[in-house]
Amino acid sequence: MNLFKYELLFKIQIGDKMEIMVAYYSWKGHTQKVAEELANELEAHLEKIEALKESGMASKAMKAYLGLKSDIKPIKTDISNVDFLIVATPVWSGHATPYMNKYLSQLTGCSGKCFSVLTEMGQSGGDKTIAQIRKTLENKGMTFVSSAMTIEEEVDSGNYKDTISKLADSIKEYIKSCE
Ligand SMILES: Cc1cc2nc3c(=O)[nH]c(=O)nc-3n(C[C@H](O)[C@H](O)[C@H](O)COP(=O)(O)O)c2cc1C
Repeated sequence: MNLFKYELLFKIQIGDKMEIMVAYYSWKGHTQKVAEELANELEAHLEKIEALKESGMASKAMKAYLGLKSDIKPIKTDISNVDFLIVATPVWSGHATPYMNKYLSQLTGCSGKCFSVLTEMGQSGGDKTIAQIRKTLENKGMTFVSSAMTIEEEVDSGNYKDTISKLADSIKEYIKSCE
């Protein structure tokens, strides 16, 4: 059992509330919708990653493809007091958005913490995006727990709740496994 699991176990035993955080970026609202649903299921705190200035489509596509960063508005980036982090991003050019890249690069207090990833997309590229975020956060000493992908069309038709419930269950099970 790693140190983080001991911390979780201690919190569970003294009945302290688990601090779960969902950090998301959303341009057109789909990722926001799924992030809010997940936060609701987990009684988690939501953090919205916002562009300092939204760039044009071509720049968005190119910067995402190249794994570049774009400036974001000030946001909580020290996660020392967070027990579990979930990051949610749209898929752009088969990658995370430049705004998510910036957020991930600014995160501190990560070592030993666990995370899950949620990607929202038109059709494809979710797997690659999850792998990209996983690598970035594992390089910061974090442990990957689970992931899920939602599709724009399904979010529009309201047909995404099962996917979110399954992701929420995987996180609850992980936390329970620490008991
Ligand atoms: C610049 C750009 C690139 C995109 N690239 C992809 C892609 O590679 N694969 C995909 O399935 N969808 C792609 N999409 C579609 C978005 O992932 C999709 O519309 C998603 O629902 C947007 O989430 P949002 O409403 O939270 O902004 C792209 C959208 C934009 C704006």
